[in-house]
Amino acid sequence: MKKLWGGRFTGFGDKWIEEFNASIQFDKELVFEDIKGSLAHAKMLAKQGILTNEEFQLIEGGLKTLQTKAENNELEFYLQYEDIHLNLEKQLTELIGPVGGKLHTARSRNDQVATDVHLYVVRNIDELIEKVTGLQKALFNIASDNIYTIIPGYTHLQRAQPISYAHHFMAYFWMLERDKNRLVDCKKRANISPLGSGALAGTTFNIDNAFTASTLGFDGNYENSIDGVSDRDFVLELLSGLCIMQMHLSRLCEEIILWSSNEFNFIELDDTYSTGSSIMPQKKNPDVAELVRGKTGRVYGNLISLLTTMKGLPLAYNKDMQEDKEPLFDSVQTMQNCLFALTGCIATAKVKKEELAVKVSEDFSNATEVADYLASKGIPFREAHEITGKIVLYCIQNNKFLKDMTMDEYLSFDNNFKEDIYEVIKPEVAVERRNSLGGTSFEQVKLQLEKAEKLLK
Ligand code: ARG
Repeated sequence: MKKLWGGRFTGFGDKWIEEFNASIQFDKELVFEDIKGSLAHAKMLAKQGILTNEEFQLIEGGLKTLQTKAENNELEFYLQYEDIHLNLEKQLTELIGPVGGKLHTARSRNDQVATDVHLYVVRNIDELIEKVTGLQKALFNIASDNIYTIIPGYTHLQRAQPISYAHHFMAYFWMLERDKNRLVDCKKRANISPLGSGALAGTTFNIDNAFTASTLGFDGNYENSIDGVSDRDFVLELLSGLCIMQMHLSRLCEEIILWSSNEFNFIELDDTYSTGSSIMPQKKNPDVAELVRGKTGRVYGNLISLLTTMKGLPLAYNKDMQEDKEPLFDSVQTMQNCLFALTGCIATAKVKKEELAVKVSEDFSNATEVADYLASKGIPFREAHEITGKIVLYCIQNNKFLKDMTMDEYLSFDNNFKEDIYEVIKPEVAVERRNSLGGTSFEQVKLQLEKAEKLLK
């Protein structure tokens, strides 16, 4: 089979090696980016007089036909044409004749593929931002519905202090806000055009790089053609950002899994986001949350994979860099899926408000209130802590909670206790009184929600 780059070669043969070299199996994902890049390049060539107007019309028409075919899923791709760039060029030439071969004037596959990947990254950042916002909205809605729902807050997975359910979920909202900002940042650096770098050294033709850049919606051009074709740091930056975001999702999923268990019983997942067991009829498994947590592995792996591929590559392009695509596509697709699945899972989960109300009234997560109470009477906090610890131990030994202690019992530990202690240790009062900036008080939570709402608009 004659190759598009076959001039210098005499023997072609091995099918297996051909397949090993090829990237069309996965880089067909770039079909629209590649056509878009070619259209801009052809337009520039015509503007510069490198293509005649007639040649340009033919090429443009051909590319648009290919685009329509691609949209209708009618384009076929062939392994022997190696990659998306050569597949499209081949089909263009079949459509419009040898003039199709003029499209590649003043261009190399090296700057072509770099352009495609930049366009792909930028487009997907926009889509990812939209999906993150969707998840944030789901979190925001649950929080708005549950300002006054109180749950035990945890440290070390041990009950620590009562908090507003809304406060807990809004913590994830702000994590996602930073994740989103990381994407926005990444886009600033990714949105520059390598087109015109040629193979590595630029081109002898009188091209207009700024024109192709602006036609493609880029903010500018690479300052250095070698950098333009050699670099994949914009991909790595996206993959790093996705790792951090996936880590956040995984933590949220871990809580969904715990919270929907019998042991916690904080929430009930909708049937859509759960599955049964093939043997145990009582089971309702949180599969979707588990899968999102599980997919964190491949997202981390993709980053390490590309970091390792790029490490030690001499400038400029090396075929190793063809290995950038699968990790990139996989992480982007995985992230999109996870964000989508989790949004539905969260939005449809039922919060077990009655059960939660019982839980917080039957634990020691209000012990800090007793210590703070004594400290506010002038007792050094360390001592107040010690006294409260003894009270908790006494309660445990006598099978009661702080609310069940009589006034005499309190007074036997310290004579600063007054009747108002019973008010102070109520979970809702404990929450309400944590009114420091960013704290869990209802007032602070409402402030958070107001800020969040503005961001969502
Ligand atoms: N399929 C190649 C890649 O993805 C395109 C660039 C090939 N360039 C070359 N000189 N062989 O990296």
